[in-house]
Amino acid sequence: KTISMVGVPMDLGQSRRGVDMGPAAIRYAGVVERLENLGYEINDLGNIEIENVGKDAKREIRNVNAIVEVNRKLAHTVEKIMEEGSFPLVLGGDHSIAIGTIAGVSKFFHQLGVIWYDAHGDLNTPETSPSGNIHGMPLATSLGLGERDLVNIGGYAPKLKYENIVIIGARSLDEGEKDLIKKKGIKVYTMHEVDRMGMSAIIEETIAYLKNKTDGIHLSFDLDALDPIYAPGVGTPVSGGVTFRETHLALEMLAETNLITSAEFVEVNPILDERNKTGSLTVELIGSLFGERIL
Ligand code: ARG
Ligand code: MN
Ligand code: MN
Ligand code: MN
Repeated sequence: KTISMVGVPMDLGQSRRGVDMGPAAIRYAGVVERLENLGYEINDLGNIEIENVGKDAKREIRNVNAIVEVNRKLAHTVEKIMEEGSFPLVLGGDHSIAIGTIAGVSKFFHQLGVIWYDAHGDLNTPETSPSGNIHGMPLATSLGLGERDLVNIGGYAPKLKYENIVIIGARSLDEGEKDLIKKKGIKVYTMHEVDRMGMSAIIEETIAYLKNKTDGIHLSFDLDALDPIYAPGVGTPVSGGVTFRETHLALEMLAETNLITSAEFVEVNPILDERNKTGSLTVELIGSLFGERIL
């Protein structure tokens, strides 16, 4: 029952400053104590060092060189955590760090499953991206699409198969992302399905969909999946999101399955937050993922 936590204070994958302070906000909200109270041993490895770059800011893929560097380091750290038999818990940072987390984790599984809890698909490539922001590309990158330097982190690609991923909470998808979802038959529960089926049925289906064909499941949790009412401190808020209770339910149900083998919580932006509301929410949600119950 050991969790190894690592922070990635990086905001280079998007255009607004602030998500680099996400790991500090989540630690400040008491993540270590919360997990210790649940009986876990927490190994806080501190933060990955982010070099101060911006030399390639003019490239169409913003800050790509720096992001490659950070994700290489993160992949290596996550790999070491896995080797030690500990559970990797990564704190972001913008969502481009999922490239490194997944690169580190997927070495240990032949069929890694991923649950992508997000308002966005993050399935853009440099060709389809409307923004040039790499935080809109990590899922595509892990599937082997896009910029080679990013795709090949860890020395192999792809890290994931289309049939092993499930997106939950989507409500802002770009044209290229929609095309890819349709072409590849990616399993996506948009807000339409959340409203129509309820979160309980969605998580049951997700588990049934992934359980027998995967040998590990990574949870990539973008706080902007939640409605901005609950999570105002995120870089790219989108209204009409998942509620507080639906999200706790999702994480509680995932905890019961014991199938989650790694997790990351990303896109917390303390600058845009209200008295660390989103940082505190993240800690509560991490509690639910690790088995916290009301009674
Ligand atoms: N789809 C938009 C883009 O590619 C927004 C991506 C937002 N991603 C995120 N991880 N918050 O720029
Ligand atoms: Mn290595
Ligand atoms: Mn998002
Ligand atoms: Mn995202």
